Amino acid sequence: MSFPITRHRRLRRTAGIRSLIRETMLTSNDFIYPVFVTHGENVKEEISSLPGVYHYSLDRLREEIEDIVAAGLASVLVFGIPETKDAIGSSAFANDGIVQRAIRSIKEWAPEMVVVADTCLCQFTDHGHCGVVHHDEATGTAVVDNDHSLELLVKTAISQAEAGADIIAPSNMMDGFVAAIREGLDEAGYHEVAIMSYSVKYASAFYGPFREAAHSTPQFGDRKTYQMDPANKREALREADSDVTEGADMLMVKPALAYLDVLAMLKEQFDLPVVAYNVSAEYSMVKAAAANGWLNERAIVLETLTGMKRAGADIIITYHAKDAARWLRGEDLQ
Ligand code: PBG
Repeated sequence: MSFPITRHRRLRRTAGIRSLIRETMLTSNDFIYPVFVTHGENVKEEISSLPGVYHYSLDRLREEIEDIVAAGLASVLVFGIPETKDAIGSSAFANDGIVQRAIRSIKEWAPEMVVVADTCLCQFTDHGHCGVVHHDEATGTAVVDNDHSLELLVKTAISQAEAGADIIAPSNMMDGFVAAIREGLDEAGYHEVAIMSYSVKYASAFYGPFREAAHSTPQFGDRKTYQMDPANKREALREADSDVTEGADMLMVKPALAYLDVLAMLKEQFDLPVVAYNVSAEYSMVKAAAANGWLNERAIVLETLTGMKRAGADIIITYHAKDAARWLRGEDLQ
């Protein structure tokens, strides 16, 4: 009688052995939790496409920050919904803009909290594009003007740093944004503020629920002239390479789930921390299926986040962060 030469099951026999040889450990230190701050007063409104995620006005934001701290999280990514929008997104770089005020408040309530600011114009422009739109006479079409947009993005980043942001996260996909923002921050004296670049950001349908949440759907056209084609992988290397050369401190891949091959490649090719953005539709799909009783939300979420970490993510931006942090502590099982 011949026996199997190797018995893999020996190391799977008990929970103790399995945990001894476990290769990937998810912890709440890995997570960044997105928050949506809106104008107005006394607003706490659930975002219908993102169940469990809310719009807060500044006067109600404190309760959310306290809940985030209580969940054991230490980092937030701030998005703002301004009262007014215009062609150049001027409320993005106003010193008393919604994001700037939110950052100041968070730093006052929770000085240890790592505050990451999303640096983009799309929530602030009336046309919903991530930069300034120019009418191109030659083709008769509207185009997003790269270099003019850079000037405004630099102003936005400086105003966010001035408000107290620890990390600037430019998500606009203009060429040269890391270099421009780095230079602007340095000239303004913010040498210590880091840049988490949305280096590899695809033109994805997975942002749908976010655009509802942030009121940032483009009013015409799409984002395909600045965000990447989902079919491309080698191009991701060129994008990341530019950002590294321009001085990025971290590289992000977005969305996460359908792009884990790209994430793994960046992890291999570069030695900067790699960030996965587990985006809005990835969250909404799980929530919708869980609400129907079709899956075990806890198990699905922890497996998904572990998969992102195993693929190479050092940091995961996720709407599941509060739940996941509590699940990792086993609070629901006690
Ligand atoms: C702003 C921005 C977007 C997201 C983060 N920052 C939307 C977009 O590019 O259209 C999407 C986040 C998500 O879907 O969770 N440019």
